Amino acid sequence: MDRDTAEPTVDSFPGPRARDRASRHAAVAAPSTHVYEFVWDPTADAIGPYCTDVDGNVLLDFTSHVAAAPLGYNNPHLLARLDEFDLVDPLKFAGQDFYADLGDLPGPTELMERLTDIAPDGHDTVFLSNTGAEAVENAIKICYDARPGAEYGITFEGSFHGRTLGALSLNRSKAVHRRGFPEIAGVSSVPFCEDQTCDPSTCSCGFFPDESGTSWLRRRLGPDGSIDPESVAYVILEPVQGEGGYRIPSEAFMAEVAAVCGEYGIPLIADEIQTGMGRTGEWWGADNYAIEPDVLAVAKGLRVGATVGREELFPDQTGRLSSTWGGGDLLSSMVGALTIDAIQAENLRQNARKRGDELAELLDTSPIVDAIDVRNLGSLVAVEFETKARRDEMVTACAKAGLLTLPCGLKTIRLLPPLDVREREIAQAVARFEDAAEV
Ligand SMILES: Cc1ncc(COP(=O)(O)O)c(C=O)c1O
Repeated sequence: MDRDTAEPTVDSFPGPRARDRASRHAAVAAPSTHVYEFVWDPTADAIGPYCTDVDGNVLLDFTSHVAAAPLGYNNPHLLARLDEFDLVDPLKFAGQDFYADLGDLPGPTELMERLTDIAPDGHDTVFLSNTGAEAVENAIKICYDARPGAEYGITFEGSFHGRTLGALSLNRSKAVHRRGFPEIAGVSSVPFCEDQTCDPSTCSCGFFPDESGTSWLRRRLGPDGSIDPESVAYVILEPVQGEGGYRIPSEAFMAEVAAVCGEYGIPLIADEIQTGMGRTGEWWGADNYAIEPDVLAVAKGLRVGATVGREELFPDQTGRLSSTWGGGDLLSSMVGALTIDAIQAENLRQNARKRGDELAELLDTSPIVDAIDVRNLGSLVAVEFETKARRDEMVTACAKAGLLTLPCGLKTIRLLPPLDVREREIAQAVARFEDAAEV
């Protein structure tokens, strides 16, 4: 497949082989996971955003496997390095590979070194795990540990942080995640900002309830508030809310969160699981704002989970944090580290910002696309529709037109092209989106 000439071509989507595979999978997989109709053929042609499904349809994938494949398919930088690693020997996948030395190839140690290089200043320590939920769980654990006796945590309305019992206690997006499950006590929520231009005098999202500029966060924790700031272990936020509908907050909101955390010495956790790894044009979504998180939770595009922060925040008693498969196997850590290298070597953060802005601008000004709002931070792009029904119709029509997209929030489509997406591919995606809108 030649990336310069590739075109999405769809015969039928989902085709017969995809439907067969999906029903075979559904026979054994937990029913709550039956959501995708896209069945990829990893043995068939794929490059950049183009992949081939099991029915031979060539699709333009603007989901990047829900941000877990930021380099798209068969990235040459990644493949060239992985070729140096003989994948056949099963001993290379032992499991507890913490101290493996692979010479020139990176393993878990090198992955942690790279993470501390690209993390905010002073973040010199990493705990590797396997999933985003674990990265979040361990982020809140180290904060509870670092603030002995602190029994409260602050989260934001609309947030999503994972599905383990601890992480789901922080969720405030969809009822389905939490309903009926036991939760950790003491998690309190305040409004999140969903208007990039919001400030105390114009706020309509509820974070600044009046022109005094006293935010809900400050009211909750201030002298007349219901929670003593000394008893708060952490404030956790997604720099842009993902599952909650790609809500991009204002600078005033972030500045106030940073100010309140700073005043009371409360650790601020940035959940960068969807916004990190260059997606927004910066390494971390938080880098787009004047905030300095104390802890980062990273996963998805990193291939493994990681909790990153300053050493003093981490417990030093052996066994207090641990995991058999922490950092996945050697290959997972290696792919994570090589992904960071490729983003650096190919200047993909700049590309993600430029192409993401282009994509959002073209969709926003399209006379055909009937969206009520198009917004983006780099290559994290949201297209919001009037109703959920219209959004769902568009997701299906886009796939039939050869463009894979994802829903989020109640009536929004999210577009996550690979970070190295090209101008030609953006134009193709917009054309397919317009085709879908006309159906
Ligand atoms: C912002 C955010 N936090 C946490 C998670 C949970 O990650 P995982 O599914 O790897 O547990 C996700 C997953 O979508 C996410 O988007």
